[in-house]
Amino acid sequence: MTPPHRQAPGRRTAVLRREAVLATVPFAVAALLAAAGPAAAGTIGASGAGDPYFPFSGNGGYHVKHYDLTLRYDTTGRHLDGKAVLTARATQKLTRFDLDLNGLKVTRVTVDGTTAGFRRSGQELVVTPRHALREDREFHVTVSYSGTPKPVSDPDGSADGWIPTDDGAFVAGEPQGAMTWFPANNHPQDKSSYDFTITVPKGRTAVANGVLRGVRTVNGHTTFRWHQAEPMAAYLATATVGKFKTEQYTTGDGIQVFNAVDSREARAAAPVLKKLPSVLKWESRLFGPYPFRAAGSIVDHAPDVGYALETQSRPLYDSAPDVSTLVHESAHQWFGDSVSLTAWKDIWLNEGFATYAEWLYSEQHGGDSAQKSFDALYARPAANELWAFPPGDPGSGKNIFDTPVYARGAMTLHELRKAVGDHDFFRILRAWATEHRGGHGTTAQFVKLSERISGEDLSGLFHTWLYAQGKPSTA
Ligand code: ARG
Ligand code: ZN
Repeated sequence: MTPPHRQAPGRRTAVLRREAVLATVPFAVAALLAAAGPAAAGTIGASGAGDPYFPFSGNGGYHVKHYDLTLRYDTTGRHLDGKAVLTARATQKLTRFDLDLNGLKVTRVTVDGTTAGFRRSGQELVVTPRHALREDREFHVTVSYSGTPKPVSDPDGSADGWIPTDDGAFVAGEPQGAMTWFPANNHPQDKSSYDFTITVPKGRTAVANGVLRGVRTVNGHTTFRWHQAEPMAAYLATATVGKFKTEQYTTGDGIQVFNAVDSREARAAAPVLKKLPSVLKWESRLFGPYPFRAAGSIVDHAPDVGYALETQSRPLYDSAPDVSTLVHESAHQWFGDSVSLTAWKDIWLNEGFATYAEWLYSEQHGGDSAQKSFDALYARPAANELWAFPPGDPGSGKNIFDTPVYARGAMTLHELRKAVGDHDFFRILRAWATEHRGGHGTTAQFVKLSERISGEDLSGLFHTWLYAQGKPSTA
């Protein structure tokens, strides 16, 4: 079930929606104009990845292989200085291409070391290299920028991106916020490796994804270097800054754990974080080997945020999590992080799976059975928000973190489990994580895999639970 802290954004929706709409419209108009600009047809990278829920997220014409981000954050003045070096490959001839960047001031852009033209248009940073880039060509883009980063207001009314806190910043990017702190190809279709070099005032810690490569203090500032080797979607990147107590160890399976905890949350977090190795081990038995070399948690004290995020290899919590939330964000490391979405419409592949992991954990650790969790939800009347829309078709970006995605998404998996039996069901989960490891998966592929492994026609089941309007009747 969805713990309250992940529902909080939904509950705030009514209050914030007006503001969100106002913030979105000018961007949309600006980006449409950008897309319609003059220049030779067929050599301009598209201003979006083609996702109708977030039309200007991501860009066409290239893939980013690697981001090298050098950041300096002044926690008092809330000023960010950034330099991003992107290693990319053109997927078509490019006379012009876009990056996503929202706010901040860009001072210089180079392509392969040569100054490039650029302009801002909504969330698009439109780059015109001095020379056209050939298809397949690898190139480097450097963007120098600075300013006071501000979170974006999502269609569901929650804030994401660089969210200032009283001692630093809570940095979470789902679904759009990566572009508030670095120029990105901001859609999960594009996955890349990352290096982070983050300088903060001495006494603060900057925590990003992956393994810690070095820490150095010079002249009252400390620089943290992080390396995320396995491909990561931009929304899963973090560079959270705060006054943290830190802890590092290696698990019996060789996973390098780094925990950072705000001291105000330390007492409540300690017994939960202690379970991380056993939770990862339990999930590895169910879903296959843990997909990353690094793990850990960031437990911030960010009372206004209202949600946690499965930032890759190191989930980010706005307060001390309970065990169920730890299990949920850990399960996302397989479902959502290692196996990524190609479209936000498929969000149940992330949230339904992570929620079902909570049910399974409870079932296997002396709590309610998954059947009991299912029954409690199924008892809700037809008018309940749970049945407001089918999880396979949330309809718009406004709904992607609503109850049907989490709860009815998990119920879909439970129905699948009952239809194919435990043996095949757990083979399906493991095969999904294994066959799409480090890549992408779609709902259609999941249906196909389930049918292949079970040998059954499951189209009716998936239609009923993922796509049919209203409360399904159980057979
Ligand atoms: N994926 C997060 C979770 O584990 C939820 C993120 C919500 N983000 C938002 N902008 N509303 O459930
Ligand atoms: Zn989740």
